[in-house]
Amino acid sequence: KEIFLKDYKQPDYYFDTVDLTFSLGEEQTVVSSNITVYPRLEGAAASSPPPPLVLDGVNLKLVSIKIDGKELQKEDYHLDARHLTLLSPPDTARFTLQIVTEIYPQKNTSLDGLYKSSGNFVTQCEAEGFRKITYYQDRPDIMAKYTCRVEGDKTLYPVLLSNGNLVEQGDLEGGKHYAVWEDPHKKPCYLFALVAGNLQSRDDSFVTRSGRKVALRIWTPAKDVPKTVHAMYTLKAAMKWDEDVFGLEYDLDLFNIVAVPDFNMGAMENKSLNIFNSVLVLASPETASDANYAAILRVIGHEYFHNWTGNRVTCRDWFQLSLKEGLTVFRDQEFSSDMGSRAVQRIQDVLTLRELQFPQDAGPIAHPVRPHSYIKMDNFYTPTVYRKGAEVVRMYKTLLGSQGFRRGMDLYFKRHDGQAVTCEDFYAAMRDANNADFANFLLWYSQAGTPTVKVTSFYNSEAKTYSLKFSQELPPTPGQALKEPMLIPVAVGLLGSNGKDMPLTSVYHDGMLQVVSTDGKPAYTTVLQIKKKEEEFLFSDISERPVPSLLRGYSAPIRLDSDLTDADLCFLLAHDSDEFNRWEAGQVLARNMMLSLVADFQQNKPLALKADFVHGVRSLLSDGSLDKEFIAKAIDLPGVGEIMDMMDIADPDAVHAVRSFIRKHLATELKAEFLKTVENNRSSEPYVFDHSNMSRRSLKNIALSYLTSLEDAQITELALNEYKTATNMTDQFAALTALVQYPGKTRDDVLADFYGKWKHDFLVVNKWFGLQAVSDIPGNVENVRKLLKHPAFDLRNPNKVRSLIGRFRESPVNFHAKDGSGYKFLGEIVLQLDKINPKGAARMVSAFSRWRRYDETRQTLAKAQLEMIVSTNGISENVFEIASKSLAA
Ligand code: ARG
Ligand code: ZN
Repeated sequence: KEIFLKDYKQPDYYFDTVDLTFSLGEEQTVVSSNITVYPRLEGAAASSPPPPLVLDGVNLKLVSIKIDGKELQKEDYHLDARHLTLLSPPDTARFTLQIVTEIYPQKNTSLDGLYKSSGNFVTQCEAEGFRKITYYQDRPDIMAKYTCRVEGDKTLYPVLLSNGNLVEQGDLEGGKHYAVWEDPHKKPCYLFALVAGNLQSRDDSFVTRSGRKVALRIWTPAKDVPKTVHAMYTLKAAMKWDEDVFGLEYDLDLFNIVAVPDFNMGAMENKSLNIFNSVLVLASPETASDANYAAILRVIGHEYFHNWTGNRVTCRDWFQLSLKEGLTVFRDQEFSSDMGSRAVQRIQDVLTLRELQFPQDAGPIAHPVRPHSYIKMDNFYTPTVYRKGAEVVRMYKTLLGSQGFRRGMDLYFKRHDGQAVTCEDFYAAMRDANNADFANFLLWYSQAGTPTVKVTSFYNSEAKTYSLKFSQELPPTPGQALKEPMLIPVAVGLLGSNGKDMPLTSVYHDGMLQVVSTDGKPAYTTVLQIKKKEEEFLFSDISERPVPSLLRGYSAPIRLDSDLTDADLCFLLAHDSDEFNRWEAGQVLARNMMLSLVADFQQNKPLALKADFVHGVRSLLSDGSLDKEFIAKAIDLPGVGEIMDMMDIADPDAVHAVRSFIRKHLATELKAEFLKTVENNRSSEPYVFDHSNMSRRSLKNIALSYLTSLEDAQITELALNEYKTATNMTDQFAALTALVQYPGKTRDDVLADFYGKWKHDFLVVNKWFGLQAVSDIPGNVENVRKLLKHPAFDLRNPNKVRSLIGRFRESPVNFHAKDGSGYKFLGEIVLQLDKINPKGAARMVSAFSRWRRYDETRQTLAKAQLEMIVSTNGISENVFEIASKSLAA
């Protein structure tokens, strides 16, 4: 059933307090709830008789219902597969509702609601999992105060956790014990959590700036506690950062994090009891890579930051998801920037946006940052809501400046602490705190699609003026044929022939003169506001034709189409003071070159690489003044997906061939430089996770990966040596990755060796699965099918599914193999997985969504799989929604 934003209605009843008791058992778990209910309208305003109270509930066995202590009779309620409707609630200002249900967590493979992971009880309630625990108004605008009593076997479940403060614990008969938790903060049920199991904790503490001493505990199975050092360090850094940057303090005396191996997503921000996928908590230098360390930093930060942006102020309804997720992703991006390198962080975030969000926005499941409708909310935890949503938040900051943005945040909390609100409320706080005119900015929340902005420039040497003309275009998306122009902030600087930023004093726009300088000091970057379909800006006192640096820092999530020449781009690559745009100039050059080589390839012309390009890469490699991670990012070619996105008909084979050709050619021409880079960036020092060491490793490892594309015995020796002597996972895995690019005995041997070393560590084994799954080796689908039967593989574990099946989809040549073998494989798996875990299956099926982008043969093959899926009896709503929308558009 499709649900629409426009149909939102306030609830007829609110809940004040919720007291839960869980009696955990191996056969069944009994959940008793005791809720105080009050009607929204009272007295004269209320309707008479009172409206029915509709509760959500799925897969529950109803044991009993009482109102004000009296057992309800059959005729007092109506029960169907999704609801329990109380037909005639009492006409009183307040009543108590007591419901007892029975559930079977040990059989719950959906990992949604209460389930078991490695023998422990765990919950995941966002978005709509609470209804699998008990009958409830499962919607975020129902905010209540909770207590939770947990009872369970003392040996099996020595640790019993829930939200808030522990107020009582003790022993019970029959080898059982109990704990009572009380959360003083009102919360929606999606933030409820319970964990019971055999866990140990790393304990630490943090003193907030107003002097509250907070106990911090990270819980894992005993053997993993040593791997929580980085997570604990990150948690404390995040707590400090939120105080320093946003003035936000933690609001309880205890903060728990639990790591579990079976978890659908990354992590969950349950009030004071965050639950994490273990891959985002556990790390040691030997077993986790730099990328893992960085992801832990990001996600521990993210979930902690939700305490204010999500928990204290939550969403009125699920359409507003980006209110908390876009904002919290923005906050975690800023945190990561401040902990590492701002420029590199920005580059990485933009790469991810382009890789994941742009394709979504251009395909059949395109939806606005605030969707208008959904069938399953689970399907809307998307790069659009999260990543594009974060870009929307970033635009407020770009428009208002740091201080203006902070004023907006302060007002947002002042107005809405303790409330469930909407995206307009956030917008209004930003606007009102700054007396700002945001014109048509709100459209960013309601219009899907990536805008294209075209820019043309003109220099008038007599008048000494420079003009920039912009036009914006928003392509149609499903259900939205026509679009309105939106406010797009474009940060601009102008470079003189000396490579320096020119001073900007004033801009004419719409017949008005805007002064750009502040306090008499000229600006070097100014933010132009494009509000209409077409706009022109005229800079005066420009002494020579400048090279414009447009969209600095990627100031808006758009595609920019400028009239810059290759020479301009090379100039920006060499000189731009905006590091993001330096990198971007290189990317635009590389994209253009790759596209033209793809055309050559398709016409069977010989491929040749321009000498300038090789020269450009050489100078980047040898520029000692540059940040090493910046160099690593700058010499990495745009991905196959990005190039396919720019073609009328995506051709995975051609793009793959071209990308491999360029890599090999660069490696041949720059062999000496790459070797030197490897040499100079080795270190025998113990592993340190900081920017300078990560940068060094990333530069060394990309150089190594270029070199191994040469398929040269001497290089293989070198890479093997790197593999054997590595003292940390980053270097070891990079060497392994470099070595397995081509089939052969070395590949087989080194893969077997790696598995032998790490078979006891499931997170490392997942890397091993992933590396093989994503391989571009011809016919790799057969290997992946074999790995499905590997004893370490298990379709019930989402991390394993992501490693093997998720990564397989990322090999353009194998997933899109022209014989349809990749599509057939995914089609089969989706159906198997859907029976176990519909959320996970829906994520896998989305790989088919862009089938119309390919040639006719591939279209037919992919479409056949989608049709097979939607016509299968008993598929979940999750998979149905994605598959049917993919076919429809
Ligand atoms: N709120 C969580 C986070 O962003 C994600 C929860 C995802 N849940 C889901 N049902 N898809 O940190
Ligand atoms: Zn989140």
